[in-house]
Amino acid sequence: MSVLLRADNLVKHFPIRQHMFGRETAVVHAVDGVSFELRAGETMALVGESGCGKSTVGRLVLRLLEPTSGKVWFGGEDLTALPPQEMRSKRRELQMIFQDPYSSLNPRMTVEQTLVEPLALHGLAPGRHRERAAELMDLVGLAPQYLQRYPHEFSGGQRQRIGIARALAVEPRLIVCDEPVSALDVSIQAQIINLLQDLQRRLGLAYVFIAHDLAVVKHIASHVAVMYLGHIVEYADKRGLFASPRHPYTQALLSAIPLPQPGARRERMLLQGDVPNPIAPPSGCRFRTRCPYARERCAQEVPALRDSGGHSVACHFWEEIAPPAAAVADVAVNERLVRLQAAFRTTGVSKEVETI
Ligand SMILES: Nc1ncnc2c1ncn2[C@@H]1O[C@H](COP(=O)(O)OP(=O)(O)O)[C@@H](O)[C@H]1O
Ligand SMILES: [Mg+2]
Repeated sequence: MSVLLRADNLVKHFPIRQHMFGRETAVVHAVDGVSFELRAGETMALVGESGCGKSTVGRLVLRLLEPTSGKVWFGGEDLTALPPQEMRSKRRELQMIFQDPYSSLNPRMTVEQTLVEPLALHGLAPGRHRERAAELMDLVGLAPQYLQRYPHEFSGGQRQRIGIARALAVEPRLIVCDEPVSALDVSIQAQIINLLQDLQRRLGLAYVFIAHDLAVVKHIASHVAVMYLGHIVEYADKRGLFASPRHPYTQALLSAIPLPQPGARRERMLLQGDVPNPIAPPSGCRFRTRCPYARERCAQEVPALRDSGGHSVACHFWEEIAPPAAAVADVAVNERLVRLQAAFRTTGVSKEVETI
């Protein structure tokens, strides 16, 4: 498959006022040189702690935010160079779904109005808006008789389905999914993930999938990018990342997953403290202030994201660091995955699995 999306050295700095009445300004280094490629029909997961810049990357890709520098290529076209008018019509091909669909649905619009609005805006399905709205409901496993209802009449999982239906209304090629299941119960998570995978197969969609649950990521992603303080610190296909995580940060994220059996032992690598303030990120390697392996060079030199055998890592010393307990950590991910998959089997993508 050809490359659908290419992020090329994306940077987003937010200037902010530090004092209410003062003129002193500071810059939030939200995203600092992020590059990746995504092929049609594939899913790239973006993982990392809160505040690492994942949502900002998602919004830059859709050009809901203007980058400070860098480019976004989509289907061979430079999105960052499109005039606003052309970007508006292009946006049909790039959609976003959110963690909390309720906040992105208009409470005063029925589901039908919600689904018809983007059709009208982009001149799609002329003369058959109502039929198209019913088709979209069918596509996401909701009964068409719900079209006349309002968002508050649905459960969280059903609202996420409506959010997905609205994104699909304009027949996109790429969907940025920003923590789409983080707020849902495990069994409902499984339904939504199944639905997203089923839609991907049927419609050839590409996903940028932002998540913090590594079991969900292991299920849905083809590739994984690990972000820390505005940088991608590791990028690999799913198998490579979970089987042999190279960056100490990735290793720490994996080792933070609780072990399935009580009493099971492994060496855990605990992440101390919080992500540092992105207004003044640490010099050199941004992870060094929390890294147990940090040395002098880490404070002086920013490690480049280097590829070795299709697996990239940004760490000066990764070859010297044995992946501690990585295999055990992966067992913990798998255990969670087995439970999720049990939920997948019992729920499938059947319709009306929830009642209102
Ligand atoms: N509009 C904004 N103005 C100032 N800072 C922002 C803005 N949006 C995001 N940030 C900051 O950028 C950093 C990255 O945020 P975000 O992309 O939301 O992270 P994530 O999605 O990984 O939690 C955070 O420190 C956040 O506070
Ligand atoms: Mg976010």
